[in-house]
Amino acid sequence: MSRRKLVVGNWKMNGMREHLDEVEAIGDLAAAHPAVEVGLCLPATLIMAGSQKRGAAFIGAQNCHMDMSGAYTGSLSAEMLAEAGATWVITGHSERREARGETNADIAAKALAAKAAGLKVILCVGESLDVRDAGDAEAVVSAQLLASLPEGAAADWLAVAYEPIWAIGTGRIPTMEAVETMHAALRAALATRIGAEADEMRILYGGSMNGANAAELLAIADVDGGLIGGASLTAEKFAPIIEAADARVTAAV
Ligand code: PGA
Repeated sequence: MSRRKLVVGNWKMNGMREHLDEVEAIGDLAAAHPAVEVGLCLPATLIMAGSQKRGAAFIGAQNCHMDMSGAYTGSLSAEMLAEAGATWVITGHSERREARGETNADIAAKALAAKAAGLKVILCVGESLDVRDAGDAEAVVSAQLLASLPEGAAADWLAVAYEPIWAIGTGRIPTMEAVETMHAALRAALATRIGAEADEMRILYGGSMNGANAAELLAIADVDGGLIGGASLTAEKFAPIIEAADARVTAAV
């Protein structure tokens, strides 16, 4: 088992051309830490320009349509995103599950479309605060993962991101014990579907990860990286997270 640490920024609906300097600086950080796989999921409007400035980082998209073409006003296909320069795409982010009503089946279909276009996928799952408080989080999120996992999911094209909804953008994170328990539960759930391949699949933590808490989160056995919103918008904020991931690699050698 060797799971390369994966640290991915999710810029959400942030970023104009003037922020391409940050993309470039983050690309330089990626080059300085080759042991870590670093990427930025940009708004679609910046994917093409960002791809020119990405250095050693990869560029991803934040969503794709499940069909490759058609009468879907305002949507973008995986093929279009790949042509623009994306090599990864996020599917199933809670901001889309909740606000756009995306179902587990939609998310699995989007992941398959992404794979068909040659994109790698970060598949997001996570519980609401009500579910967490009810003590059902592991069971609910494991079921969500299995229901949104596409056919043929494999570690060379798909990573999972566990993002407790109540931790996103709030500055709150679960206890380290809760993260450890959840990640172990998700890996066990994956094993029921994909067997030994589950040991190779990266499971990222997301939700208010930042320079101050990354080292502790990334030290947890089944945490293979992070999906980072706010703290990925500048190279200055993102750098300590990438450095913390690299330090784990060094510690493991
Ligand atoms: P956050 O966002 O790091 O700003 O909490 C994470 C995400 O939504 O992917």
